Amino acid sequence: MSVNVGNLDAIAVDARQRISAAADEATLNQLRIDLLGKKGVLTGALRGLGSLPADQRSAAGARANALKTEIDQRLNARRQELEQNRLQGLADSEWVDVTFIPEAAVSRGHLHPLTQALTEITAIFSRLGYEVALGPEVEDDYHNFQALNIPEGHPARDEWDSFYLAQGGWLLRTHTSPVQIRFMEAHQPPIRIIAPGPVYRHEATDAGHESQFHQVEGLLVEEDIRMSDLVGTIEYFSRSMFGAERRIRISGDHFPFTEPSIGAAVSCGICQGTGCGSCKGGWLEIMGAGMVHPQVLRNGRIDPERYSGFAFGMGLDRIAMLKYNIADIRRLRESDVRFLRQF
Ligand code: DAH
Repeated sequence: MSVNVGNLDAIAVDARQRISAAADEATLNQLRIDLLGKKGVLTGALRGLGSLPADQRSAAGARANALKTEIDQRLNARRQELEQNRLQGLADSEWVDVTFIPEAAVSRGHLHPLTQALTEITAIFSRLGYEVALGPEVEDDYHNFQALNIPEGHPARDEWDSFYLAQGGWLLRTHTSPVQIRFMEAHQPPIRIIAPGPVYRHEATDAGHESQFHQVEGLLVEEDIRMSDLVGTIEYFSRSMFGAERRIRISGDHFPFTEPSIGAAVSCGICQGTGCGSCKGGWLEIMGAGMVHPQVLRNGRIDPERYSGFAFGMGLDRIAMLKYNIADIRRLRESDVRFLRQF
């Protein structure tokens, strides 16, 4: 090809047109090769410069070099332009607006702390072979009192002041102990049950007392059962429920339906047993218990000559309060989600 300035002008017009018409990056890359590459149009023209007459050579060389720079700049400018357009197009479709605030998530809720505590208690005793037994919340005087060695007029009745129904001598059970009798009436040993459920007391409400609360009763009747079995069971329960480092304290107590009777306490997890505002001298009482009174076994149609057993009863609300550090029993029944959400 013969090279002259007019020729270069034609290359320039053609190059400008093709660059501004290029619609994507691949086309631009190909154009760069076609125009500026080793075998490109402009490169070929530059190579032909040597054959020009000397008086034209420098003018054509300057023109060709200027054109090379111009094409390079136009290719870059068009590339940027295409990128801008691409981003613009994305704004409406693919872009994520990071300033968007999602609506508050719907909270899922969870089990009530009393249910959580009972689930855990049930799991612990089921590992020891206990099953769950239930009894009626409306009881008769015989099962709630008499069969448990609390005859009419017995002073112990004062401890279990109940709500009486107007007819039929029915009352709202004051404890879960009547389930012991009902279960023994229907089953012979071996017996291993826990009996959870609501109980009712006619009493004024304060931070430690409610007229309705929950107990978990336990009863084990087999051959050759001793106090040491009871103590071991309490220790296993308390460590599983409150932590392996907890100690237990067993002290004498009195219940008409057990002989001997004991009270069990667990060392305070806040002061580690040294004594603080949350405990009584380093201890927290968790249950009443004892060896089942022979007459109570007899009332349940079980032969006390052959079988012996132990029983225990604990306040579920109290256990939950100890476990989750709840100071006021009334919170457990208020259904205030700001409180319940914490557990
Ligand atoms: N029923 C008793 C109460 O309500 C608690 C209790 C104490 C249950 C000793 C028992 C027991 O089974 O052996 O205070």
